[in-house]
Formats: sequence, C-alpha cells, structure tokens
Amino acid sequence: MKPEILQIAPMMPHVEAALESAYFVHRYWEAQDKTALLREVGERVHGVATNGHSGCAPEILAALPNLQIIASYGVGYDAIDVGACKARGVRVTNTPDVLNDAVAEITFGLMISLCRRIPQADAFTRAGRWRNGAYALTGELTGAKVGILGLGRIGKEIARRCQVFKMQVVYHGRREQPYEPYPYYADLVEMAEAVDWLVVIAPGSAETNGIVSHRVMEALGPKGHLVNVARGSLVDEAAMVELLQSGGLGGAALDVFEDEPNVPEALFALDNVVLSPHQGSATQKTRSAMGDLVVRNLAAHFAGDLLLTPVA
Ligand code: NAP
Ligand code: 8YV
Repeated sequence: MKPEILQIAPMMPHVEAALESAYFVHRYWEAQDKTALLREVGERVHGVATNGHSGCAPEILAALPNLQIIASYGVGYDAIDVGACKARGVRVTNTPDVLNDAVAEITFGLMISLCRRIPQADAFTRAGRWRNGAYALTGELTGAKVGILGLGRIGKEIARRCQVFKMQVVYHGRREQPYEPYPYYADLVEMAEAVDWLVVIAPGSAETNGIVSHRVMEALGPKGHLVNVARGSLVDEAAMVELLQSGGLGGAALDVFEDEPNVPEALFALDNVVLSPHQGSATQKTRSAMGDLVVRNLAAHFAGDLLLTPVA
C-alpha cells in the first residue's frame, strides 16, 4: 500500500511524477471543495508536500490527525507553524543550500539593474531614443558599501559576489560571526546609516517582522538602496512606498512583497524601483534540485531513515 500524501501546490512535472510513483497523492490545489477533500482523506494522509509560499495552513494541519511529515519546497518555512508541528511530533523538512547560488545571482541582477538602470536603458534603446542622444549617466556598484541583513547561507554567497564586485561588505544579525571577515553591526539602524546598499536576506519570523522599519529606511537615506530578496514581511512596505515616493529612500530592488502576488500599485509608477515576481530560486536547475530534496526527504521518512534536511 502506498502512503497517502496531500500535495498543496503544483511542482515541476518530474517532481510530481516521482511523488505519484511513490504515494497516493491528493492534489489539494485542484480540489473544488477543499473542505470536503480534507474531510474525506484527512485521517489517511501521513505526509504533506508543499512550498514556501503555500506552507501548511492551520486548518489543513488540524484536518490531518495522522500527519507525520511536511516536506516543503523552499528554504524559508515561515508559512508553516513549526512549533505546532513539533508539539504534535510532525517532522518538517525544507530545501536549504541548493538554492544559495540562484538567489545570490538574482540579488546581483536586481542590484545591477537598479544601479545601472538596465530596464530603463532597454526601454530607451527599444524606443529608438538613442538616435536623439546618449542615455544618462548612472551610478556604479564598484566601491560602494553594502550591509547584509542576515549573513547566513545565502547572505554569505551574496557577500562573496560583493567582494568580486569590489564592494565593501558589513553585516547585521543577532550575533557576531567571529570567523567571517566582514565588520559586524549589532545595531541595524547604525548599519543602515553607514551603507549605500542594504540587502535583506534573513528569514521571515515574528522576530524579523517589520525589522526594516521606517527608521531603518530613513537611515539608509535618499542615496541609499534597499534590496529585499528575503520575505515581504521583513520590510514595512507602506513606509517603504512613502519614502520611495518622497525621495527619503533612494531606490529599491524587490523580489518579495507583503501580500504576494499582490504588489502595491504605487510602486508601478516609480522610476527608482526594480520589481521581480519572487524569482530568487526560479531556475530550472535550482528548482529541480529543490524538488529532488522534497522527494528524498519524504522517501527517507517513509523508509524510516534519517531526514536529509530537517527543520524540526
Ligand atoms: P539562514 O542560513 O538561516 O540565514 C539566515 C540569517 O539571518 C542568519 O545569518 C541569521 O543570523 C539571520 N537572522 C535570523 N534571525 C534574525 C533576526 N531576528 N535578526 C537579524 N538577523 C537574523 O537562511 P538562508 O538559507 O540564507 O535563507 C534566508 C531566507 O531567505 C529564507 O528564510 C527565505 O525566507 C529567503 N529566501 C528567499 C528566496 C527568494 O526566492 N527570494 C529564496 C530562498 C530564500 P543570526 O542567527 O546570527 O541572527
Ligand atoms: C521559493 C523561497 O520560491 O526557498 C524559499 O524560501 O522563497 C523560494 O525558493 C518558494 O519557497 C516556493 O514557493
């Protein structure tokens, strides 16, 4: 008998094929009547496959009394109540490390786009405006100082790329990392005052909610640039929009938003922002590696082996 699992959201075809071959899969996102599906299969479901965005809502968790494991496709697990899972003995896995390079890469893509105004220069060229004169001069990353909020697995890859770009790196986290070569700021406002770029790559949590506050963005200032590739919840989005509109904050490059896929429309009118629809890990190679980890974690669990990448 194949174990029964609930798949919350779609995944890449080869990942879905691997899940279908090993489990009896209930496709939650396709169910017309989701409550009825949970009522019908809830007691038989022993595993959940989900992603970082969908997580596992409390009403789903409550409807699965015999759940043993949640395997999430993504490193951030802020959409899963890990505390509640632990209390019930439900294991949780995520997909760390395999996406570090892809996320660091898009961070730089966004930074270069914002600084060198690549989207605007592309539009200028396509519109044939070059014939009327050269494009305006832009800023440059070389020599600029970047503060990384969250020098973790991805933050370290971003820092390495900053060094190659001849930028100065400093960081903020809850504690100093003595073996890292970069200066540490215990105070985020002080770091924001000292840098040209603030890159946000710490997890979403109750602790980090709104950590990039009005005060932090004011400290970053009219010449400062904010890059958020972490979670929308870390930034006070309303304050950010207001500061970008008033010129109190120089610019922003954003891959994540408070209420995805809804992006504040006020941002669409601004020339000092670059927007991306949560694309950090969205390459074929990386998403494939993430999917493999989901499949392998579930397989390890149902075989009674050690989990590859447990969160809890
Ligand atoms: P990680 O290795 O756990 O690193 C997180 C870093 O954040 C650590 O250095 C930690 O340092 C710091 N941190 C944690 N809580 C903090 C707090 N309250 N205040 C200040 N710093 C804090 O995580 P990761 O694998 O690099 O991933 C980071 C996050 O990126 C994920 O959780 C996810 O939300 C996001 N992400 C986004 C995308 C995307 O597509 N845009 C893709 C992947 C990941 P201390 O412990 O010293 O505080
Ligand atoms: C994914 C992410 O896009 O890993 C994360 O935390 O934010 C991204 O890699 C997301 O988990 C898929 O929904």
